[in-house]
Amino acid sequence: MSIIEKAASRIDLQRNAPAVARTPETAAVDAIEAAAAAPVVLAPVAPAPEPAAAQAPASAAAAAEAEPRPAQKFSTRRVELDLNRMRDMGMVTAAGGRTRLLEDFRVIKRPLLQRAFAERAEGEKPGNLIMVTSSLPGEGKTYCAINLAMSIAMELDHTVLLVDADVARPSVLRSLGLPAHRGLMDILLDDKIDMSDVMLRTNVDTLSILPAGTSTPRATELLASSAMSTLVDEIAHRYPDRVVIFDSPPLLLTSESRVLASHMGQIVMVVEAQTTTQHAVKEALHQLEGYQNVNLIYNKTREFPGIEETYDYHYG
Ligand SMILES: Nc1ncnc2c1ncn2[C@@H]1O[C@H](COP(=O)(O)OP(=O)(O)OP(=O)(O)O)[C@@H](O)[C@H]1O
Ligand SMILES: [Mg+2]
Repeated sequence: MSIIEKAASRIDLQRNAPAVARTPETAAVDAIEAAAAAPVVLAPVAPAPEPAAAQAPASAAAAAEAEPRPAQKFSTRRVELDLNRMRDMGMVTAAGGRTRLLEDFRVIKRPLLQRAFAERAEGEKPGNLIMVTSSLPGEGKTYCAINLAMSIAMELDHTVLLVDADVARPSVLRSLGLPAHRGLMDILLDDKIDMSDVMLRTNVDTLSILPAGTSTPRATELLASSAMSTLVDEIAHRYPDRVVIFDSPPLLLTSESRVLASHMGQIVMVVEAQTTTQHAVKEALHQLEGYQNVNLIYNKTREFPGIEETYDYHYG
């Protein structure tokens, strides 16, 4: 079975911290070191967000904003994820027990969750909006987006919305074994359609999906539209405990990911081990210059003989 062994390195682009190139030979050692070092290098955990209703609004306006919580009202359709199929395909599920993959994504999500609900500086994008991208096709964006979403959905304190924002080549529903549905593009194309018409609730109560929807040549333009900004704002703020994961197209082949990145509080760039060139990674990171909170996942690294699965994680 394929393994996932990755280095998830936070790179503070603003400080021009260099990306740390990993070699497979050091990965196993680093895994141990990283596991030991993790509690030290991680920033303090942000205080758990209070539910909107518990924030005791002082004004009438604030009270009006504190709507009763909602998914029931907000999301009408429900789909069944085949968790056994997902587990058999090597995806994170609660049904899979305590696997190495589960542990991998537990470590990957930790800093993302810390930042998702941390205090924001003026002008900073919402940290709970997390885009998963890569330089080139096939590096594992959808795989990582789904696993990250499943992993966070298994947390008690969070709900997750998984958005298929790879609107030209959507694959979240297909990867989950689900038929196509209307989604993001339909909301942006038709102002009579809203989230509740197209969002899918799932049998994982804390996980909802916003499909990519109808394909359109105007995708880039729509993603850059004010309607998209409004939608993203609503998605980010409606539920204070919600993490939103955007599966996105590759950075070097389309302009859509760059447009999407402009809305995001955090970006996760998947790098396929042994395949993606350093040049491609640098070029992709160059396109993300100026964006805060860019993280790397080193994906699909090769197996080490005699070691079932290995894992590498550290900060740059
Ligand atoms: N860590 C992994 N272990 C095993 N299989 C993986 C891993 N990462 C990705 N894959 C597999 O590699 C293939 C490509 O992955 P995926 O579809 O997630 O890539 P992508 O970057 O989303 O591609 P695209 O650019 O076409 O959207 C899929 O079959 C996926 O299941
Ligand atoms: Mg994909």
